[in-house]
Amino acid sequence: MVQRSQLFLLLVFIIFSAIAAETENQDYVALLSLKSMWQNTPPNWVGPDPCGKGWEGIGCTNSRVTSIMLSSIGLTGSLSGDFVMLSELKTLDLSYNKGLTGPIPRSIGNLKKLLNLILVGCSFSGPIPDTIGSLRQLLYLSLNSNQFSGQIPPSIGNLSSLLWLDLTDNQLNGPIPISDGITCGLDMLLNARHFHLGQNNLSGTIPPQLFNSEMPLIHVLLDGNQLTGSIPSTLGLVQALEVLRIDGNALSGPVPSNFNNLTNLIQMFLSNNKLTGPLPNLTSMNLLSYVDISNNTFDGSDAPPWFPTLQSLTTLIMENTQLQGQFPVALFSLPLLQTVVLKKNKLNGSLVIGTTHSNQLKLIDLQFNFIHHLDGKEAYNGTLKLEDNPICEVTGNLSSYCTVSLSNASYLTQKIDCESVPCSSDQISSPYCRCAYPYTGTLFFQTLSFSDLGNNTYYNILEKSLMDSFHSHQLPVDSVSLTLSNPITASSKYLEVKLKVFPYGQVSFNLTGISSIGFMLSNQTFKPPPQLFGPFYFIGDKYEKYTESKKSSRSSIVIEVVVGGSILLLVILLAGVYVLHTKKRAKRAIEHTSHFSQLDQSSRGGSVIKVKGVGWFSLKELEKYTKHFSVANEIGSGGYGKVYQGSLPTGQLIAIKRAKKESMQEGLEFKTEIELLSRVHHKNLVILLGFCFEKGEQILVYEYVSNGSLKDSLSGKSGIRLDWMRRLRVALGAARGLAYLHEFANPPIIHRDIKSNNILLDESLNAKVSDFGISKPIDDSEGSHVVTQVKGTMGYMDPEYYMTHKLTEKSDVYSFGVLMLELLTARKPIEHGKYIVREVQETMDKTKDLYNLHEFLDPAIGLGTTMKGLKKFVDLAMRCVKDPGFDRPMMVEVVKEIENILELAGVNPDANSTSTSASYEETNKGSSPYPGYPYS
Ligand SMILES: *[C@@H]1O[C@H](CO)[C@@H](O)[C@H](O)[C@H]1NC(C)=O
Ligand SMILES: *[C@@H]1O[C@H](CO)[C@@H](O)[C@H](O)[C@H]1NC(C)=O
Ligand SMILES: *[C@@H]1O[C@H](CO)[C@@H](O)[C@H](O)[C@H]1NC(C)=O
Ligand SMILES: *[C@@H]1O[C@H](CO)[C@@H](O)[C@H](O)[C@H]1NC(C)=O
Ligand SMILES: *[C@@H]1O[C@H](CO)[C@@H](O)[C@H](O)[C@H]1NC(C)=O
Ligand SMILES: *[C@@H]1O[C@H](CO)[C@@H](O)[C@H](O)[C@H]1NC(C)=O
Repeated sequence: MVQRSQLFLLLVFIIFSAIAAETENQDYVALLSLKSMWQNTPPNWVGPDPCGKGWEGIGCTNSRVTSIMLSSIGLTGSLSGDFVMLSELKTLDLSYNKGLTGPIPRSIGNLKKLLNLILVGCSFSGPIPDTIGSLRQLLYLSLNSNQFSGQIPPSIGNLSSLLWLDLTDNQLNGPIPISDGITCGLDMLLNARHFHLGQNNLSGTIPPQLFNSEMPLIHVLLDGNQLTGSIPSTLGLVQALEVLRIDGNALSGPVPSNFNNLTNLIQMFLSNNKLTGPLPNLTSMNLLSYVDISNNTFDGSDAPPWFPTLQSLTTLIMENTQLQGQFPVALFSLPLLQTVVLKKNKLNGSLVIGTTHSNQLKLIDLQFNFIHHLDGKEAYNGTLKLEDNPICEVTGNLSSYCTVSLSNASYLTQKIDCESVPCSSDQISSPYCRCAYPYTGTLFFQTLSFSDLGNNTYYNILEKSLMDSFHSHQLPVDSVSLTLSNPITASSKYLEVKLKVFPYGQVSFNLTGISSIGFMLSNQTFKPPPQLFGPFYFIGDKYEKYTESKKSSRSSIVIEVVVGGSILLLVILLAGVYVLHTKKRAKRAIEHTSHFSQLDQSSRGGSVIKVKGVGWFSLKELEKYTKHFSVANEIGSGGYGKVYQGSLPTGQLIAIKRAKKESMQEGLEFKTEIELLSRVHHKNLVILLGFCFEKGEQILVYEYVSNGSLKDSLSGKSGIRLDWMRRLRVALGAARGLAYLHEFANPPIIHRDIKSNNILLDESLNAKVSDFGISKPIDDSEGSHVVTQVKGTMGYMDPEYYMTHKLTEKSDVYSFGVLMLELLTARKPIEHGKYIVREVQETMDKTKDLYNLHEFLDPAIGLGTTMKGLKKFVDLAMRCVKDPGFDRPMMVEVVKEIENILELAGVNPDANSTSTSASYEETNKGSSPYPGYPYS
């Protein structure tokens, strides 16, 4: 029986090859195999064409499946071996499906194109296969919160591009692998910024070879293992380090003296080990805000002199650290201090609080010391704990500070100016009092920079940064609500904050929405303000209530019948499907042309109609808005014609592009631009408001982008100085716009004319990609895209495309690489007969300061200031202009890399771009893709 149905499947497969569905057959078969292994797959996973028919959670480029994103939908089953036929797969995110069990198959090593492998919070078990080391392109490997056992495979050391390694919260054991000339090891991950290996059963020492001064590591989390031996002094060489957790192990010996060199450290946890020797000297750690070195066996000593020098300190936890002598009153002068826990030490004498302490001070815990006198208590409103000190042993002292009290911080997002309404059944009222089914889960913060968990400010900032991130990724989120209810106990390893995400404009998310939100949180695209929150992970709950997309199409119902039917029936029905399929194609072709016939008609009728959200303007109106195309309203001109500024009766400013008569090519570019721009919506793409096609005129009406083109800013014409941080953000915005066109537009679009002229800057200096005149949608049916006429701008044009006429996304990547060099140098790509790409390639010398590129850098960039990430930026630009297109990164990768450069420079990539520092106080001025959106 089983064999028979397999035979049918094979037949279906073969016959469909002949029908030429849009999805490559091997990918279709691979997905069928996954579907057969899983329960609760999306209801629209029917029919033979996952790409063409848009199976939910499946992303395609051309006819190949490139992403599978299915978080939190209650999938159960295992990962079957056949899915590795998806040879173009770049992203696999199956996070938060607790029902996914069993091992990861060894054949996963075949998915050579994989960039993101994200399986957070499932129930996968068994060893992590060593074949994972073959995924050479991998950037993100997140396998946290599963039940993996066995050792960390040394082959992970082969993943030389890896940025993020997260294996937290599994049952991994054995040593941390390092290379020895024969086998690989984690010390080879020279690009990694995150080693998150906490909450496992790792044993052995922390190998000194694991760290060196070249590493860009910012987070090292090894907490909650069984590591022994001493802390290697090489850790003190990792200059970029911001968060260190090695608490909860059995580490011994002294803290290396060069720790004092870790000047970027913000949070440090050394507690619950067997460390000896003197208390570590932290004098130089100017950014340190949270320190916990409790429960070690340091040499008994007086309070160290560095206490009052740590100006950023909010939290000092030194329980049971053999501290003696007088209480160090100087601590109270620290301006940001919130918590001091010095319990179980040998401090004696008086505790003098006085009035100089920070007004944020909320907890002084000195239980189990020898304090016998207290002064200045009146000036302090926070909690004071002095149980088991002589002062409390005096009979009759019933002061509040002598009775054990439990701190119990809580938080709940408040309603925003609204009356709660009763919600039906299991719906929940959002902060705006709208009933809906929120997506829920828990954020686990592994470290924080603060300890006053009762201060709402922090949760408000977190809410805002979540909303900003949802917003900038265009996710249909209305609001979020946070709840902190667990009293923080010693047993909870990390701070747990419950998150509810409410859908925008509907009562529930669809599956695409859930997967995208899940991906934003599992892939760490969301970054909370790093000054306050350290590393985190998210575990989503199963989302039961998603809105199903339209039910199976007719052709797919046919397939279901076929599988159960006889061969004769099968052939007859397939013939039917074929007819249906062809009819559909024809219908699509008709739809395709119909807006333009509509467009032409409307131009005759002169009435305002809408073509897919784009308005039609009459020439008369536009004349009115631009004062008859007056010279005063002119804001630009070029080969195509002129651009005018105008304003609508509503006051909205608009930019009007009027084609020169001689540049019109039968309206082809005009139509392309209308068609493409009316389909794409992204905050980094210019918005087309409408068009006019009348009396031989071809006019396009856009939103007005106030700061003109990037070229104007780089040449100094616009008077806006672009410093390094601003340039990075412009690059990021343009890259995101372009990545959207390549990956998320349907069908994908190749811009073909990326250059500084075509990148506009809005009032917050957000980049917007414009000018889609020669852009090309990649129609699936065409296969490879050989164009008859090579178009683009000299200097920016991909030489490979120029020579072969073969157009791919990588041609835009090339132009973007040139644009990056332009951002660095403010030079035209070809100047005085010199080509910037060659010039930089020839001058570049990686052994020299600034790669020997001083003479090229634009002085306005802020030479002399620390241009953090400059080298990485140059490296990235050089990868983008590599000669074989194949060697260039995808735009999504470019986006990731620029985000990382910004993150490394300590800036939140999603914060407003006018501010150079990540200021979360700023309101988001960017235009919202969702009208009436509450945060806009
Ligand atoms: C600290 O760093 C400086 C330069 O980065 C180096 O010269 C010095 O030797 C380091 N100190 C220790 C104790 O490693
Ligand atoms: C701690 O380090 C600082 C600067 O590195 C140094 O000046 C000071 O003498 C050290 N203190 C102790 C007690 O070693
Ligand atoms: C120190 O050890 C005690 C006893 O094991 C434990 O209860 C306490 O939570 C530890 N303190 C810290 C700050 O980890
Ligand atoms: C809450 O935290 C903010 C930011 O650190 C601080 O400015 C404010 O004073 C704190 N509020 C209270 C009541 O401590
Ligand atoms: C303590 O609280 C009282 C009343 O709640 C207030 O008047 C006083 O200013 C507070 N003192 C300090 C030092 O914050
Ligand atoms: C899912 O919801 C989003 C936003 O609400 C919408 O744009 C998209 O078309 C929906 N997808 C499907 C498959 O229904």
